[in-house]
Amino acid sequence: MVPQNDSASGLDSAESSPSNDDDERTVCFCHNVSAKALREAIQAGARTHADIQAATRASTGCGGCEFEVLDILEAELQKK
Ligand code: FES
Repeated sequence: MVPQNDSASGLDSAESSPSNDDDERTVCFCHNVSAKALREAIQAGARTHADIQAATRASTGCGGCEFEVLDILEAELQKK
């Protein structure tokens, strides 16, 4: 089963063109959080796993995405 539009999430954004497939990839399926949303949260100041969880709710459900969330966090922080 693939989750479709969850009108309660409010995380969808059609403003930017999907120039990067990885950005549009869903990382957290519990809360429908994309890689792009995680990167935006980090660019907005999130520096820890707890910051990411507070900003996006990613990895606050089943926890299955935690490793990937931390991977993106580490990669983004290394860019700075
Ligand atoms: S997939 Fe992210 S908390 Fe379940």
